[in-house]
Amino acid sequence: MSGSTERPHTDGVVTGSGEIHGRRVFVYAQDFTILGGSLGESHAAKVQKTIDMAMRCGAPIISLQDSGGARIQEGVHSLNGYGGIFKRTVDASGVIPQISVILGPCAGGAAYTPALTDFVFMVRDVSYMYLTGPDVVAAVNGHTVTHDELGGPSLHSEISGLASFVYDDESDCLNDVRYLVSLLPSNCLNGPPDESSCGASEDIRPALRDLVPVESHVVYDMTDVAVELLDGGDLLEVHEHWAPNVVCGIGRIDGAVVGVVANQPQHLAGALDADGAQKASRFVRFCDAFNIPLVTLVDVPGFLPGLDQEGMGAIRHGAKLLYAYCEATVPRIQVIVRKAYGGAFIVMDSRSIGSDLSLAWPTTEVGVMGATAAVNVLHRRELAEASHPSGMRNELEERYRALSTPYVQAQEGFVDDVIDPAETRSAVARGLAMLRSKSVDAPARKHGNLPL
Ligand code: HXC
Repeated sequence: MSGSTERPHTDGVVTGSGEIHGRRVFVYAQDFTILGGSLGESHAAKVQKTIDMAMRCGAPIISLQDSGGARIQEGVHSLNGYGGIFKRTVDASGVIPQISVILGPCAGGAAYTPALTDFVFMVRDVSYMYLTGPDVVAAVNGHTVTHDELGGPSLHSEISGLASFVYDDESDCLNDVRYLVSLLPSNCLNGPPDESSCGASEDIRPALRDLVPVESHVVYDMTDVAVELLDGGDLLEVHEHWAPNVVCGIGRIDGAVVGVVANQPQHLAGALDADGAQKASRFVRFCDAFNIPLVTLVDVPGFLPGLDQEGMGAIRHGAKLLYAYCEATVPRIQVIVRKAYGGAFIVMDSRSIGSDLSLAWPTTEVGVMGATAAVNVLHRRELAEASHPSGMRNELEERYRALSTPYVQAQEGFVDDVIDPAETRSAVARGLAMLRSKSVDAPARKHGNLPL
């Protein structure tokens, strides 16, 4: 035991188990009114036991974090307590869903616990997380910052990508925690709660015919497409404000829970970048770990070019996304809704990397690059010497586009079917029903050498 004799009631954390919508969950909630919710030896032992129980029972663990961090008066005992929590959180990763709700401060190394979990919820004007507080920052860097600027929900939901969800008030936040739990399996050996009936419905959605403009550069909101596909139009978007050029979210199609990954033309024209690839790769791995089928909606001009992106590790993070899809063994359905160019086409769950089913809308263009760029590369000299370059360009671009149609891709087997957009929901539902019994053995190895 530590040298401290002070053992206040609860030691600053309430632990236990209960049910959400009739399903078992384990919870620990830190109490800031007891020594600032700081983590001492007994506090840590209670948290560790709760994680152990959740693992034994195969049930999700939810933490409500509100703590000043390591209890200073208990010294290394409290650090040792954190170590035990980190170890258990990593052991539980991919085995049971782990959710962190930040309802106050979460300072210092303590912030690594939420960072190791699957989802982090934050509340505006309530939550903050940082490694070192404003006083230390002022002393070291001479910068004056507030708690909120340094570690508030805006920073973590828009810039660092640490917060998966952000809310204006606690009650909305906790409602969404419950809703998220209702979409997840209790552990990696089970599927998510299934509300599907036998046989997929034949659901025609005419709105899908008009949602996506045919011209490849015209902006629209991809979440409108996702909403049309999902039951009740309910998409629980993860990391909505971070890397918004990629949409990741959970919903249901005909009662079956699916993870949706999509390009978002409203931001960066839907191009993939370092942050977007990180966001999607983590989400794909989560879905794969917890048996959630993936539906990938593709409209991608490529990877975002430039010095910034190369420096930010677009290749490194893009590789993570490729890796995440390649190793995913859950049912995977790709729907190409407009264009799919270059490496980004492959990365967005193409057949070549293991997608089970690839569907394309009739106006789709699939190729190494867009027609204009391709003609620039292939015919620069002829165009420079042509007496009517614009006529020649149009003709060359048309010829290139003719090779990029989904019908050509279907003939080659790169796409399984070309479908009426209005039939997308029913086609995906039929695909999911077909793939329900999919079983693929992962390669026999401890784990791949690519931590996320
Ligand atoms: C012991 C603590 C404490 C701590 C707060 N308290 N943090 N007691 N250990 N870490 C106590 C305070 O003494 C006070 O007790 C009560 O909690 C409320 O704290 P206040 O400071 O009055 O509250 P507030 O003004 O809201 O400020 C909250 C705070 C501040 C910003 C979190 O308390 C703070 O900066 N705490 C220290 C944060 C920190 O540096 N933690 C260590 C991080 S390093 P009384 O008796 O007056 O009510 C770390 C290492 C982990 O955690 C390593 C893992 C690898």
